[in-house]
Amino acid sequence: MKQHLTFLGLESSCDDTAAAVVRVGPDGAQILSSVVAGQTELHAPFGGVVPEIAARAHAEKLDLCVEEALAESGLGLRDLDGIAVTAGPGLIGGVMSGVMCAKGLAAGSGLPLIGVNHLAGHALTPRLTDDLAFPYLMLLVSGGHCQFLIAHGPEEFSRLGGTIDDAPGEAFDKTAKLLGLPQPGGPVVEAEAAQGDPKAFAFPRPLLDRPGCDMSFSGLKTALLRARDAVVVEHGGLPRQVRRDLCASFQAAVRDTLAEKSRRALVQYLDLNPAQPSFAVAGGVAANKAIRAALETVSAEMGVAFTAPPLRLCTDNAAMIAFAGIERFRTGARDGMDLTARPRWPLDQSAPALLGSGKKGAKA
Ligand code: KG4
Ligand code: ZN
Repeated sequence: MKQHLTFLGLESSCDDTAAAVVRVGPDGAQILSSVVAGQTELHAPFGGVVPEIAARAHAEKLDLCVEEALAESGLGLRDLDGIAVTAGPGLIGGVMSGVMCAKGLAAGSGLPLIGVNHLAGHALTPRLTDDLAFPYLMLLVSGGHCQFLIAHGPEEFSRLGGTIDDAPGEAFDKTAKLLGLPQPGGPVVEAEAAQGDPKAFAFPRPLLDRPGCDMSFSGLKTALLRARDAVVVEHGGLPRQVRRDLCASFQAAVRDTLAEKSRRALVQYLDLNPAQPSFAVAGGVAANKAIRAALETVSAEMGVAFTAPPLRLCTDNAAMIAFAGIERFRTGARDGMDLTARPRWPLDQSAPALLGSGKKGAKA
């Protein structure tokens, strides 16, 4: 096998169209370019991601993103060793756009094609950024998914637990919607929360009374809706400071739940892997500073090394897909022109299916 492997990655499973070029060699991984074209303004009037609009926008933008990523990397297709593409899970129209685009590029250039599980892309990101050795415990927390995974290898994951309904990012997005704030909700709610009192409202910390590390966030959303309605009745509207307090109290509930469940997942993980005390987080919600800090504290208390990728690599991007493609390629995996787009694709095939479906259809 060549010392250096350079892959183009494509990502289009939700509402970001992305292309990136990543090179992996003996001294680690290098992101040569990473282009992300968001679709926030296209979906804004609808208060959430509209699958058909997303799919059309991906089909329009993918070629441009690929051109830009190649130009930025200073490479042409002939300098590459392969093409990696998100083949699921996600919104099927968008995933299909990406897979078709990748097939066209692979057929035209003769390069190998590698289908990548989007969740594996997130879960392997700490290896891209920090060269983290297997195994490690991973909390994958975004708009479509929330699960604790032990990463044993590029395609080997075991799930310790996950959300049984909404994902936390989805709860952040719904909270923003209920409070009249723009999408995506996470960053806006975080900004509002920074100026609010996290103790102003006593929101539930769901499933903390039950053992294990499964989670639930839909009740929290209902509690927020009730609190908002009570405030509106009392004040005849939603005063700015109360909105900030609602955001801060909501964020604190998510933070406390994730921190306590991480502690429990770490106990289970360390029992199985005492020699490798390593915990990493990825996914859009990992961009939240309060949540990152809480996870860092839990890790420090338990004597575990904590890795959180830089924010731009926590949210959806194609560098993680190119990298995960290289990791799969190195195990000997290859896909053909029969590669299919999969709306659902659990990382741990042996674990029972989680109940929730999530607004982005990306849960597994
Ligand atoms: O991983 P990602 O880009 O897309 C998938 O869901 O796969 O994550 C996007 C999600 C959105 O729900 C967004 O509101 C949330 O991550 N998010 C945040 C923050 N930044 C993004 N949630 C909380 N705090 C943030 N700062
Ligand atoms: Zn994602």
